[in-house]
Order: sequence, then structure tokens, then C-alpha cells
Amino acid sequence: MASNITFHEGYLIGTVSSEERVQLSQQKGATIWLTGLSASGKSTIACALEQHLLHLHKYAYRLDGDNVRFGLNKDLGFDEKSRNENIRRIGEVSRLFADSCCLTITAFISPYRIDREFARQIHEKSGLPFVEVFVDAPLSVVEQRDPKGLYKKARAGEIKDFTGISAPYEIPENPEIHLNTAETNVTESVRIITQYLVSHGYMP
Ligand code: PPS
Repeated sequence: MASNITFHEGYLIGTVSSEERVQLSQQKGATIWLTGLSASGKSTIACALEQHLLHLHKYAYRLDGDNVRFGLNKDLGFDEKSRNENIRRIGEVSRLFADSCCLTITAFISPYRIDREFARQIHEKSGLPFVEVFVDAPLSVVEQRDPKGLYKKARAGEIKDFTGISAPYEIPENPEIHLNTAETNVTESVRIITQYLVSHGYMP
């Protein structure tokens, strides 16, 4: 961390209190954190969910793995340290979005439990809901889907550190929502997540 910096109290709590911000925005913020293997359905569900929430006139925004790696995180690769840093930054960014009363949807493999736990903790410390959604599909299924041909390349040794093949994916132990995308379609997945948000008071 840099020296000679001072934390400004108006940053997360301050001149406008969190309660006031929620009242004025007429919306609570939360992060809906999708995690799962490549091709498990994270991006598809995230897009459909964002569209659904916007159609309900909710302020929603999606942060997506591939896209964020073109900008904010273009300096990062796929070794363990880079993934840790990728998720640390996304955890911080999603917390800021959630603090701005946005229903923030993140779609990153986020393969390490410790990184997802970090993202959860910084949300919870700020009193912001963190909803971990395990977008689950067996390796055999995602490998068959292989929409970008990445599994084929990984099997051929053309991509190193590929999640599920040559890099680990640590399954969530207690996700708020567990979707099995081999059996549950996108519409149903969106319905399940929305229902969760409503029933927990995150989407009044
Ligand atoms: S991570 O693990 O959370 O840091 O990854 P993420 O930022 O979500 O980026 C995953 C997308 O990058 C592409 N890609 C790879 N994925 C996994 N392993 C390796 N080595 C790799 N190289 C490139 C891939 O398109 C992932 O997108 P999704 O949408 O998950 O398929």
C-alpha cells in the first residue's frame, strides 16, 4: 500500500449514509457472484439476469471475466497469482458498485475459495449482501459444449493452466444458490436467482 494516503470517511459511509443512499436510490445494492468452470453458463446467465433486472427497472450491471480482462485487468494472466489479483480487484470493484446501490452481477471462474471468501468478507464488512451462485456443470458436459474450443486446445497442451484440465477449480462449500446447468435452463436459473433476491429482501 502507498504511504501518505488518508482514508476518506465519505467513501463508504459518510456525508450520505448508506441508509440515505438506499432511500434516495429506492434500491438496495448487492453482489451476485457467479462462479464455475469455463462454459458452465456464467456469462449466459449473467446476461439474462442483467436484462431481466433492468426490465424490472432495477439498476443492474454485469462484470464479465473475458471483458474485464480486455481493460482493467489486461495485465493479468492465468497463473494462480494473477487469478488471485484478478478476483481481488473484481471483489473491490463489485463492492463499490454494490455500495452505489447497484445489483452487481459478476461472472468470473474465480476458482479459488480463498479469493471468493475475500470478496464475500469485504462486502459483509460494508453491510452489503453477497450472493454466491455456483454455476455447476460436470467437466464432461462443459468439455462437450466447448463453445470457444478452449478445452480442446487445453487437452492438446496448447493452453497451460486451464481450469479443470491443468489448473484447479475449488467447488464452493456453502453457496447461497447452486445451479446445475446441465439440468436447469437459463430462464429457470434467472427465476431462481430473482426469487432468492426477493425473498431475502434484497430486491424490494
Ligand atoms: S479467473 O480464473 O476467474 O481469473 O478467470 P476469468 O477472469 O473468469 O477468465 C476466464 C475466461 O478466460 C478465458 N481463458 C481461460 N479460462 C481458464 N483458464 C485459462 N487458462 C484460460 N485462458 C483463457 C476463457 O474464455 C474464460 O471465459 P469463460 O467465460 O469462463 O469461458
